[in-house]
Amino acid sequence: MTTTPVRVAVTGAAGNIGYALLFRIANGDLLGPNTPVILHLIDLPVALDACRGVVMELDDCAFPLLRGTVVSSELEEGFGDVDVAMLVGAKPRGPGMERADLLQGNGKIFIGQGQAIDANASKDVRVLVVGNPCNTNALIAMHQARRTNPANYTAMTRLDQNRAMAQLAGRSGATVNDIKNLAVWGNHSPTMFPNFFDATINGKPVEGVINDEEWLKGAFLKTVQSRGKAIIDARGKSSAASAASAAIDHVHTWATGKMTGDYVSMAVPSDGSYGVPKGLIFSFPCRITSPWTYEIVQGLELNDYARAAIKKTADELLSERADVESMLS
Ligand code: NAD
Ligand code: LMR
Repeated sequence: MTTTPVRVAVTGAAGNIGYALLFRIANGDLLGPNTPVILHLIDLPVALDACRGVVMELDDCAFPLLRGTVVSSELEEGFGDVDVAMLVGAKPRGPGMERADLLQGNGKIFIGQGQAIDANASKDVRVLVVGNPCNTNALIAMHQARRTNPANYTAMTRLDQNRAMAQLAGRSGATVNDIKNLAVWGNHSPTMFPNFFDATINGKPVEGVINDEEWLKGAFLKTVQSRGKAIIDARGKSSAASAASAAIDHVHTWATGKMTGDYVSMAVPSDGSYGVPKGLIFSFPCRITSPWTYEIVQGLELNDYARAAIKKTADELLSERADVESMLS
Protein backbone atom coordinates (compact mmCIF):
# COMPACT_ATOMS: atom_id res chain seq x y z
CA MET A 1 0.00 0.00 0.00
CA THR A 2 1.29 3.46 -0.94
CA THR A 3 1.78 5.30 2.34
CA THR A 4 2.10 8.94 1.27
CA PRO A 5 -1.39 10.33 0.90
CA VAL A 6 -2.23 12.17 -2.31
CA ARG A 7 -3.71 15.62 -1.78
CA VAL A 8 -6.80 16.22 -3.92
CA ALA A 9 -8.45 19.65 -4.04
CA VAL A 10 -12.09 20.06 -5.07
CA THR A 11 -13.42 23.57 -5.60
CA GLY A 12 -17.14 24.13 -5.29
CA ALA A 13 -16.99 21.44 -2.63
CA ALA A 14 -20.35 22.45 -1.15
CA GLY A 15 -22.14 22.28 -4.50
CA ASN A 16 -24.08 19.54 -6.21
CA ILE A 17 -21.18 17.98 -8.10
CA GLY A 18 -18.92 18.37 -5.06
CA TYR A 19 -21.36 16.36 -2.97
CA ALA A 20 -21.43 13.56 -5.54
CA LEU A 21 -17.64 13.63 -6.00
CA LEU A 22 -16.01 13.82 -2.58
CA PHE A 23 -17.34 10.53 -1.21
CA ARG A 24 -16.20 8.64 -4.27
CA ILE A 25 -12.70 10.08 -4.04
CA ALA A 26 -12.54 9.18 -0.34
CA ASN A 27 -13.73 5.68 -1.22
CA GLY A 28 -10.74 5.13 -3.52
CA ASP A 29 -12.58 5.40 -6.84
CA LEU A 30 -10.29 8.19 -8.08
CA LEU A 31 -6.82 6.83 -7.34
CA GLY A 32 -7.43 3.19 -6.53
CA PRO A 33 -7.72 1.06 -3.41
CA ASN A 34 -4.06 1.43 -2.37
CA THR A 35 -3.75 5.20 -2.38
CA PRO A 36 -4.73 7.20 0.71
CA VAL A 37 -6.00 10.71 0.11
CA ILE A 38 -6.24 14.04 1.90
CA LEU A 39 -9.18 16.06 0.61
CA HIS A 40 -9.00 19.85 0.28
CA LEU A 41 -12.52 21.29 0.17
CA ILE A 42 -12.48 24.78 -1.33
CA ASP A 43 -15.53 27.00 -1.60
CA LEU A 44 -16.68 30.59 -1.08
CA PRO A 45 -16.78 31.85 2.54
CA VAL A 46 -20.57 31.65 2.53
CA ALA A 47 -20.39 27.91 1.81
CA LEU A 48 -17.78 26.93 4.39
CA ASP A 49 -20.32 25.78 6.99
CA ALA A 50 -21.83 23.49 4.38
CA CYS A 51 -18.32 22.15 3.64
CA ARG A 52 -17.82 21.45 7.34
CA GLY A 53 -21.06 19.47 7.30
CA VAL A 54 -19.76 17.45 4.37
CA VAL A 55 -16.57 16.75 6.33
CA MET A 56 -18.67 15.44 9.23
CA GLU A 57 -20.36 13.05 6.81
CA LEU A 58 -17.02 12.02 5.30
CA ASP A 59 -15.76 11.24 8.81
CA ASP A 60 -18.92 9.27 9.51
CA CYS A 61 -18.28 7.05 6.50
CA ALA A 62 -15.05 5.85 8.16
CA PHE A 63 -13.33 5.55 4.78
CA PRO A 64 -10.03 3.70 5.38
CA LEU A 65 -8.26 5.71 2.65
CA LEU A 66 -9.25 9.16 3.90
CA ARG A 67 -6.29 10.52 5.90
CA GLY A 68 -7.36 14.11 6.41
CA THR A 69 -9.40 17.07 5.24
CA VAL A 70 -8.73 20.77 4.76
CA VAL A 71 -11.63 23.23 4.43
CA SER A 72 -10.82 26.68 3.13
CA SER A 73 -11.86 29.64 1.06
CA GLU A 74 -8.27 30.90 1.07
CA LEU A 75 -6.79 29.72 -2.21
CA GLU A 76 -3.20 29.61 -0.93
CA GLU A 77 -4.23 27.23 1.83
CA GLY A 78 -6.77 25.36 -0.28
CA PHE A 79 -4.33 24.55 -3.06
CA GLY A 80 -1.31 24.15 -0.75
CA ASP A 81 0.81 21.18 -1.92
CA VAL A 82 -2.09 19.55 -3.77
CA ASP A 83 -1.26 16.87 -6.33
CA VAL A 84 -4.63 16.92 -8.10
CA ALA A 85 -6.91 19.95 -8.48
CA MET A 86 -10.49 19.36 -9.61
CA LEU A 87 -11.93 22.78 -10.44
CA VAL A 88 -15.68 22.42 -10.19
CA GLY A 89 -16.66 25.64 -8.40
CA ALA A 90 -18.45 27.98 -10.79
CA LYS A 91 -21.98 28.97 -11.63
CA PRO A 92 -24.03 26.44 -13.59
CA ARG A 93 -26.22 27.64 -16.46
CA GLY A 94 -29.96 27.83 -16.10
CA PRO A 95 -32.74 27.15 -18.61
CA GLY A 96 -32.38 29.08 -21.87
CA MET A 97 -28.65 29.73 -21.45
CA GLU A 98 -25.66 28.35 -23.36
CA ARG A 99 -22.53 27.41 -21.38
CA ALA A 100 -20.62 30.19 -23.17
CA ASP A 101 -23.01 32.71 -21.52
CA LEU A 102 -21.18 31.91 -18.27
CA LEU A 103 -17.81 32.93 -19.65
CA GLN A 104 -17.48 36.51 -18.38
CA GLY A 105 -18.78 35.63 -14.89
CA ASN A 106 -17.01 32.31 -14.38
CA GLY A 107 -13.85 33.05 -16.39
CA LYS A 108 -12.52 35.47 -13.75
CA ILE A 109 -12.58 32.71 -11.12
CA PHE A 110 -9.94 30.80 -13.04
CA ILE A 111 -7.41 33.64 -13.11
CA GLY A 112 -7.06 33.66 -9.32
CA GLN A 113 -7.30 29.90 -9.05
CA GLY A 114 -4.69 29.43 -11.78
CA GLN A 115 -2.34 31.82 -9.95
CA ALA A 116 -2.90 30.11 -6.61
CA ILE A 117 -2.35 26.66 -8.09
CA ASP A 118 0.85 27.75 -9.80
CA ALA A 119 2.17 29.33 -6.61
CA ASN A 120 1.08 26.76 -4.02
CA ALA A 121 0.30 23.35 -5.49
CA SER A 122 2.76 20.55 -6.10
CA LYS A 123 4.93 21.41 -9.12
CA ASP A 124 3.55 18.31 -10.86
CA VAL A 125 -0.07 19.10 -10.10
CA ARG A 126 -2.65 17.68 -12.51
CA VAL A 127 -5.65 19.93 -13.10
CA LEU A 128 -9.12 19.05 -14.33
CA VAL A 129 -11.58 21.87 -15.02
CA VAL A 130 -15.27 20.95 -14.79
CA GLY A 131 -16.83 24.40 -14.17
CA ASN A 132 -18.30 25.78 -17.38
CA PRO A 133 -17.42 26.74 -20.00
CA CYS A 134 -14.75 24.25 -19.03
CA ASN A 135 -12.44 24.38 -22.07
CA THR A 136 -11.95 28.13 -21.97
CA ASN A 137 -11.86 28.24 -18.15
CA ALA A 138 -9.01 25.71 -18.32
CA LEU A 139 -7.31 27.94 -20.91
CA ILE A 140 -7.53 30.88 -18.50
CA ALA A 141 -6.08 28.85 -15.61
CA MET A 142 -3.34 27.38 -17.83
CA HIS A 143 -2.22 30.86 -18.85
CA GLN A 144 -1.12 31.40 -15.25
CA ALA A 145 1.19 28.37 -15.32
CA ARG A 146 4.82 29.42 -14.84
CA ARG A 147 6.17 26.88 -12.34
CA THR A 148 3.62 24.15 -13.07
CA ASN A 149 3.36 22.35 -16.42
CA PRO A 150 0.80 23.88 -18.83
CA ALA A 151 0.28 20.43 -20.39
CA ASN A 152 -1.23 19.30 -17.08
CA TYR A 153 -4.21 21.66 -17.39
CA THR A 154 -7.15 19.75 -18.83
CA ALA A 155 -10.93 20.06 -19.14
CA MET A 156 -13.69 17.49 -19.03
CA THR A 157 -15.34 15.97 -22.08
CA ARG A 158 -15.49 12.48 -20.60
CA LEU A 159 -19.14 13.07 -19.70
CA ASP A 160 -19.84 13.64 -23.39
CA GLN A 161 -17.96 10.47 -24.29
CA ASN A 162 -19.92 8.49 -21.70
CA ARG A 163 -23.18 9.94 -23.03
CA ALA A 164 -22.25 8.99 -26.59
CA MET A 165 -21.29 5.45 -25.59
CA ALA A 166 -24.58 4.99 -23.74
CA GLN A 167 -26.54 6.15 -26.80
CA LEU A 168 -24.68 3.76 -29.11
CA ALA A 169 -25.10 0.89 -26.67
CA GLY A 170 -28.82 1.60 -26.34
CA ARG A 171 -29.36 1.78 -30.07
CA SER A 172 -27.35 -1.36 -30.94
CA GLY A 173 -28.32 -3.54 -28.00
CA ALA A 174 -24.66 -3.87 -27.01
CA THR A 175 -23.27 -2.88 -23.63
CA VAL A 176 -21.11 0.16 -23.05
CA ASN A 177 -18.16 -2.20 -22.56
CA ASP A 178 -18.56 -3.27 -26.18
CA ILE A 179 -18.12 0.31 -27.46
CA LYS A 180 -14.52 1.33 -28.09
CA ASN A 181 -12.70 4.39 -29.39
CA LEU A 182 -15.56 6.86 -29.26
CA ALA A 183 -13.68 10.13 -28.94
CA VAL A 184 -15.33 13.49 -28.53
CA TRP A 185 -13.49 16.26 -30.35
CA GLY A 186 -13.48 19.97 -29.51
CA ASN A 187 -15.50 22.05 -27.14
CA HIS A 188 -17.85 20.93 -24.34
CA SER A 189 -20.67 22.74 -26.12
CA PRO A 190 -23.26 21.98 -28.80
CA THR A 191 -20.48 22.09 -31.43
CA MET A 192 -18.65 19.08 -29.92
CA PHE A 193 -18.05 16.23 -32.35
CA PRO A 194 -18.47 12.69 -31.01
CA ASN A 195 -16.60 10.92 -33.80
CA PHE A 196 -18.62 7.78 -34.42
CA PHE A 197 -16.69 7.07 -37.65
CA ASP A 198 -13.71 5.69 -35.71
CA ALA A 199 -15.68 3.93 -32.97
CA THR A 200 -16.42 0.22 -32.89
CA ILE A 201 -19.08 -2.01 -31.37
CA ASN A 202 -17.72 -5.47 -30.57
CA GLY A 203 -14.79 -4.69 -32.83
CA LYS A 204 -16.91 -3.73 -35.85
CA PRO A 205 -17.31 -0.17 -37.18
CA VAL A 206 -20.32 1.59 -35.65
CA GLU A 207 -21.65 2.55 -39.07
CA GLY A 208 -21.81 -1.11 -40.12
CA VAL A 209 -23.49 -2.28 -36.91
CA ILE A 210 -26.06 0.51 -36.65
CA ASN A 211 -26.48 0.88 -40.39
CA ASP A 212 -28.46 4.11 -40.15
CA GLU A 213 -26.38 7.09 -41.25
CA GLU A 214 -29.32 9.45 -40.87
CA TRP A 215 -29.65 8.53 -37.17
CA LEU A 216 -25.89 8.76 -36.56
CA LYS A 217 -25.54 12.16 -38.22
CA GLY A 218 -28.89 13.38 -36.86
CA ALA A 219 -30.51 12.19 -33.64
CA PHE A 220 -27.34 10.62 -32.21
CA LEU A 221 -25.19 13.74 -32.56
CA LYS A 222 -27.99 16.05 -31.43
CA THR A 223 -28.76 13.97 -28.34
CA VAL A 224 -25.15 13.96 -27.20
CA GLN A 225 -24.52 17.61 -28.09
CA SER A 226 -27.61 18.83 -26.22
CA ARG A 227 -27.75 16.34 -23.35
CA GLY A 228 -26.75 18.93 -20.75
CA LYS A 229 -29.71 21.11 -21.74
CA ALA A 230 -32.11 18.16 -21.76
CA ILE A 231 -31.08 17.36 -18.18
CA ILE A 232 -31.50 20.97 -17.06
CA ASP A 233 -34.96 21.07 -18.67
CA ALA A 234 -35.96 17.84 -16.92
CA ARG A 235 -34.30 18.33 -13.51
CA GLY A 236 -34.38 22.09 -13.21
CA LYS A 237 -30.66 21.94 -12.46
CA SER A 238 -27.64 20.69 -14.29
CA SER A 239 -26.21 17.19 -14.27
CA ALA A 240 -24.35 16.42 -11.08
CA ALA A 241 -23.89 12.71 -10.33
CA SER A 242 -23.03 11.87 -13.94
CA ALA A 243 -20.66 14.85 -14.08
CA ALA A 244 -18.94 13.72 -10.88
CA SER A 245 -18.68 10.19 -12.24
CA ALA A 246 -17.10 11.43 -15.46
CA ALA A 247 -14.64 13.57 -13.47
CA ILE A 248 -13.63 10.42 -11.59
CA ASP A 249 -13.26 8.57 -14.91
CA HIS A 250 -11.08 11.35 -16.40
CA VAL A 251 -8.63 11.47 -13.50
CA HIS A 252 -8.69 7.71 -12.85
CA THR A 253 -7.77 6.97 -16.47
CA TRP A 254 -5.04 9.62 -16.41
CA ALA A 255 -3.60 8.28 -13.15
CA THR A 256 -3.73 4.59 -14.01
CA GLY A 257 -3.75 4.35 -17.81
CA LYS A 258 -6.70 1.95 -17.61
CA MET A 259 -8.74 2.35 -20.81
CA THR A 260 -11.30 0.04 -22.36
CA GLY A 261 -10.22 0.97 -25.91
CA ASP A 262 -7.15 2.56 -27.46
CA TYR A 263 -7.95 6.08 -26.23
CA VAL A 264 -10.25 8.37 -24.25
CA SER A 265 -11.53 11.93 -24.68
CA MET A 266 -9.60 14.61 -22.81
CA ALA A 267 -9.63 18.32 -23.49
CA VAL A 268 -5.92 19.21 -23.45
CA PRO A 269 -3.74 22.03 -24.81
CA SER A 270 -3.58 21.63 -28.59
CA ASP A 271 -0.12 21.12 -30.05
CA GLY A 272 -1.46 21.80 -33.53
CA SER A 273 -2.44 18.17 -34.19
CA TYR A 274 -5.08 17.70 -36.89
CA GLY A 275 -4.84 21.42 -37.75
CA VAL A 276 -6.37 22.52 -34.42
CA PRO A 277 -4.87 25.92 -33.51
CA LYS A 278 -2.10 25.57 -30.94
CA GLY A 279 -2.88 26.41 -27.33
CA LEU A 280 -6.65 25.93 -27.43
CA ILE A 281 -7.92 23.50 -24.80
CA PHE A 282 -9.43 21.07 -27.26
CA SER A 283 -10.84 17.60 -26.72
CA PHE A 284 -8.81 14.99 -28.60
CA PRO A 285 -8.54 11.23 -28.50
CA CYS A 286 -5.80 10.81 -25.90
CA ARG A 287 -3.76 7.78 -24.94
CA ILE A 288 -2.25 7.37 -21.49
CA THR A 289 1.31 6.21 -22.08
CA SER A 290 2.27 5.83 -18.40
CA PRO A 291 0.61 6.95 -15.19
CA TRP A 292 -0.17 10.69 -15.36
CA THR A 293 1.17 11.02 -18.92
CA TYR A 294 -1.07 11.42 -21.95
CA GLU A 295 -0.40 11.89 -25.64
CA ILE A 296 -2.73 13.07 -28.38
CA VAL A 297 -3.33 10.07 -30.64
CA GLN A 298 -1.78 10.69 -34.05
CA GLY A 299 -2.51 9.39 -37.51
CA LEU A 300 -6.28 8.97 -37.37
CA GLU A 301 -7.86 9.33 -40.81
CA LEU A 302 -10.57 12.00 -40.83
CA ASN A 303 -13.13 12.18 -43.61
CA ASP A 304 -14.51 15.48 -44.95
CA TYR A 305 -17.50 15.36 -42.59
CA ALA A 306 -15.29 14.90 -39.53
CA ARG A 307 -12.83 17.58 -40.68
CA ALA A 308 -15.66 20.11 -41.13
CA ALA A 309 -17.11 19.27 -37.70
CA ILE A 310 -13.68 19.66 -36.07
CA LYS A 311 -13.14 23.01 -37.78
CA LYS A 312 -16.52 24.27 -36.55
CA THR A 313 -15.82 23.44 -32.91
CA ALA A 314 -12.25 24.81 -33.14
CA ASP A 315 -13.62 28.06 -34.60
CA GLU A 316 -15.99 28.34 -31.63
CA LEU A 317 -13.09 27.92 -29.21
CA LEU A 318 -11.10 30.56 -31.10
CA SER A 319 -14.01 32.93 -30.66
CA GLU A 320 -14.28 32.11 -26.93
CA ARG A 321 -10.53 32.73 -26.62
CA ALA A 322 -10.95 36.13 -28.29
CA ASP A 323 -13.75 36.97 -25.83
CA VAL A 324 -11.46 36.38 -22.84
CA GLU A 325 -8.29 37.88 -24.31
CA SER A 326 -8.09 40.30 -21.37
CA MET A 327 -8.06 37.35 -18.92
CA LEU A 328 -5.08 35.67 -20.61
CA SER A 329 -1.79 37.02 -19.35
P1 NAD B 1 -23.60 24.29 -7.81
O1 NAD B 1 -24.19 25.65 -7.96
O2 NAD B 1 -24.41 23.23 -7.15
O3 NAD B 1 -22.24 24.42 -6.97
C1 NAD B 1 -21.25 25.31 -7.31
C2 NAD B 1 -20.39 25.51 -6.08
O4 NAD B 1 -19.29 26.31 -6.47
C3 NAD B 1 -21.11 26.25 -4.95
O5 NAD B 1 -20.87 25.59 -3.72
C4 NAD B 1 -20.47 27.64 -4.98
O6 NAD B 1 -20.45 28.26 -3.70
C5 NAD B 1 -19.08 27.28 -5.47
N1 NAD B 1 -18.34 28.38 -6.05
C6 NAD B 1 -18.77 29.40 -6.83
N2 NAD B 1 -17.77 30.23 -7.10
C7 NAD B 1 -16.67 29.73 -6.50
C8 NAD B 1 -15.32 30.14 -6.42
N3 NAD B 1 -14.91 31.29 -7.00
N4 NAD B 1 -14.45 29.39 -5.73
C9 NAD B 1 -14.85 28.26 -5.12
N5 NAD B 1 -16.13 27.82 -5.14
C10 NAD B 1 -17.01 28.55 -5.84
O7 NAD B 1 -23.09 23.84 -9.25
P2 NAD B 1 -22.72 22.37 -9.74
O8 NAD B 1 -23.95 21.70 -10.22
O9 NAD B 1 -21.87 21.71 -8.73
O10 NAD B 1 -21.87 22.73 -11.06
C11 NAD B 1 -20.60 23.34 -10.96
C12 NAD B 1 -20.07 23.70 -12.35
O11 NAD B 1 -19.85 22.51 -13.11
C13 NAD B 1 -21.02 24.55 -13.19
O12 NAD B 1 -20.27 25.55 -13.87
C14 NAD B 1 -21.59 23.55 -14.19
O13 NAD B 1 -22.04 24.18 -15.36
C15 NAD B 1 -20.39 22.69 -14.43
N6 NAD B 1 -20.64 21.38 -15.04
C16 NAD B 1 -19.74 20.96 -15.99
C17 NAD B 1 -19.91 19.73 -16.58
C18 NAD B 1 -18.94 19.24 -17.65
O14 NAD B 1 -19.20 18.21 -18.28
N7 NAD B 1 -17.82 19.91 -17.88
C19 NAD B 1 -20.97 18.91 -16.23
C20 NAD B 1 -21.87 19.36 -15.26
C21 NAD B 1 -21.69 20.63 -14.66
C1 LMR C 1 -23.59 19.16 -18.82
O1 LMR C 1 -23.18 18.90 -19.95
O2 LMR C 1 -24.47 18.46 -18.25
C2 LMR C 1 -23.04 20.35 -18.08
O3 LMR C 1 -22.08 21.00 -18.85
C3 LMR C 1 -24.09 21.27 -17.59
C4 LMR C 1 -24.68 22.10 -18.70
O4 LMR C 1 -24.76 23.33 -18.54
O5 LMR C 1 -25.09 21.54 -19.71
